[in-house]
Parts: sequence; structure tokens; C-alpha cells
Amino acid sequence: MANTHPLKPTNIFQRLFCVTISPLPSDPGSFAVDGDRLTIRLDRARELEPVGGALRIEDPLLPDRVLVVHGEDDQFRAFRNRCACGGFRIDPVPGQEKIRCCTPMQSTYDYAGSPLSRTVNRSLDVLPCSRAGTTLTVDVGLLREPAPHLRKEASRPHP
Ligand code: FES
Repeated sequence: MANTHPLKPTNIFQRLFCVTISPLPSDPGSFAVDGDRLTIRLDRARELEPVGGALRIEDPLLPDRVLVVHGEDDQFRAFRNRCACGGFRIDPVPGQEKIRCCTPMQSTYDYAGSPLSRTVNRSLDVLPCSRAGTTLTVDVGLLREPAPHLRKEASRPHP
């Protein structure tokens, strides 16, 4: 991976403390929440400008936290920011089309939210999003449902 990637991989010590590499918004005016709609102004959200960038949105108006990713394939995606096995924060994997838990167990998913590792048996919550010019709109209605790790069917516990 080139050193110019906007996100830096974590080391084992950072993972032990669940350090996330996806930043919070530097510009509080770069997003707005209106009911089940989260709107992001891409002209102000500098964190999402480069391919591979990401942005965490953790706002009291949202039912749960959101991770927005400018993927390695140059597409924007949004996820409930909770790993499907234990609910910890997730991050994009720098230089790869993957999403991964910030903890040492590192459950890994593809961009569709499907698990790629044996440490997890359910999918991430992918939030529908669409882009029109410099506006990215995310439907956050799914966040009103329990997070994947809290749903009824059994999942593998986090160590
Ligand atoms: S919560 Fe860490 S691997 Fe799922």
C-alpha cells in the first residue's frame, strides 16, 4: 500500500484498545440529520475526498453511529458502524475493498457487508445511499432496528 493512502493501518497495540482509523468530521457543517435521512456535503467533508477515505458520524440525532466510506473502487457506501459479531467500530481496510473490525479479532467483510472471515456469521448493516452532485444522501432508517450483534439468532461471541 502506498504511504499516500488517507488511512493508516493500525498495529496490534492500537487494536487492543479498539483504535479506529476513520475520523470524525472536521467540519460540523459537512453533514445534517433530518429524520431518517443523513445528508453529507461532499464539498465540505474533506475526509471523504480521497479514494479510500472514510468518515465516522456519531450524532445524537442518529439512532446509531454511521461509517461512510469512499471506497477503493471510487464508490461511496455507508454502514452501521458496528461489527456484526460484537458491535465494535469498523473501518475500511486501507488499499483493499474490505471493511474490518477495529479489535484484535478483526472480523472482515466485503463492501456488500458480507463476512469474509470465520470469526463472524452475519452481515454488516449496509445503509442505502445515493449521490447527486456534491450531496450524498444516506437512508438511516435501518438504524432504528437492533444492531446485527443484538439480533435474536445466535452469533459467535466476541472474545
Ligand atoms: S466486534 Fe470485533 S470482530 Fe466483531
